[in-house]
Amino acid sequence: MSADVDRAAAAANGTTQAARAGADPLGVIVIGAGDMGARHACHWHAIGAAVIAVVDPASARAEAVAALVGAEAHADLGDLLDRGDVHVVSVCTPTYLHAPATVAALEAGKHVLCEKPAALTLRDAVAMQRAAERSGRQLRIGFMRRFDPAYRPLMDFTERAGRPLLAQATITAGVRPKRLMHDALANGGPIIDMCCHVFDLWGRMLGGEPVAVRARGYTFSDDKPELAGIAQRALDSALITLEYAGGSVGQIQVSWGLPSGIEPVERHTYVGPSGMVSVDWPRHITLRDADGVTRWRSRGVDPYLAEITQFRREIVEGASREVPDIGAGIAALRVSLAVLEAIRGHSVTSPAEAVDLEVPTS
Ligand SMILES: NC(=O)c1ccc[n+]([C@@H]2O[C@H](COP(=O)([O-])OP(=O)(O)OC[C@H]3O[C@@H](n4cnc5c(N)ncnc54)[C@H](O)[C@@H]3O)[C@@H](O)[C@H]2O)c1
Repeated sequence: MSADVDRAAAAANGTTQAARAGADPLGVIVIGAGDMGARHACHWHAIGAAVIAVVDPASARAEAVAALVGAEAHADLGDLLDRGDVHVVSVCTPTYLHAPATVAALEAGKHVLCEKPAALTLRDAVAMQRAAERSGRQLRIGFMRRFDPAYRPLMDFTERAGRPLLAQATITAGVRPKRLMHDALANGGPIIDMCCHVFDLWGRMLGGEPVAVRARGYTFSDDKPELAGIAQRALDSALITLEYAGGSVGQIQVSWGLPSGIEPVERHTYVGPSGMVSVDWPRHITLRDADGVTRWRSRGVDPYLAEITQFRREIVEGASREVPDIGAGIAALRVSLAVLEAIRGHSVTSPAEAVDLEVPTS
């Protein structure tokens, strides 16, 4: 478990007494007991929800996470979704399993918080959306960056920089320690898994869906022995250019193909007619404009905790909606798929041209 998850576990332990005394009516199942599952379980517990079960075929993981929050551990869902004291399901499996878990939970009448990205295919994502519509339950996607303290100052600073905005993001890391992250059939590689955060951000910042997509893709990790044996290796590196109506343009330079152990870096710059914004995500943001230099520094709020707290408020207290819904998940996925299509054809495509054919018609 990562240091962040250790901190979440400590928070969960610290609030155990208060949580139980508060007797929150919300019952939660967490599916998938890896890093995200541990985080979700600990945060649900920390805000006073009752984590009823943690489900993972890797039994030791299910048991370890369940023990942190006083839940039952299960190797499979069995008839857990029939329980009346379960109201919410957190889906934290590898991405290719998001759709079956989400659809089953919705069909059983549960609300779902599904980790990002929504799915690997538009077919799966639309099946999730339709299941939500049929059930009348809430289906939200874990774009937790919208709850990062850097999010609002970044939106504010880039607003002050004016439009059109010329955006650039550099996201680099060594080969990811989890092989599934490099598996095209499991988590989809960085164009789906990582860039969805930026596509979601830029969709709001630069003006909806891009009108044109150009990209080149690479597999820098081809000769890296730690990834040997993956049947369908995902592209691990790309240069992506997205054009938006209104003239804003975004370019992403992304790689998960550097030598293992190289520290991850994420830097953005935004240049507009009134200023320039530089971002060392998620800690520092600097705006340079006619008023001089304005700096913002992170206050260290946990965005995952903030997201889960808000989702609980929306379900239990009817708070207005802030946690992104499946529509946002589909929008980001459409851009990822358009980028992959552009890489295949080395051509210019819009998300509509690239992926509409994939949507089932009934
Ligand atoms: N919001 C974010 O910024 C963020 C960050 C990291 C990961 N994620 C996403 O969260 C998801 C999980 O990522 P992770 O890093 O926790 O992965 P992980 O590999 O640490 O954990 C996944 C867990 O799912 C379990 N699993 C596999 N099949 C299962 C099944 N049928 N039923 C139940 N559990 C099953 C695995 O045994 C494993 O324990 C992925 O979709 C990933 O893209 C989101």
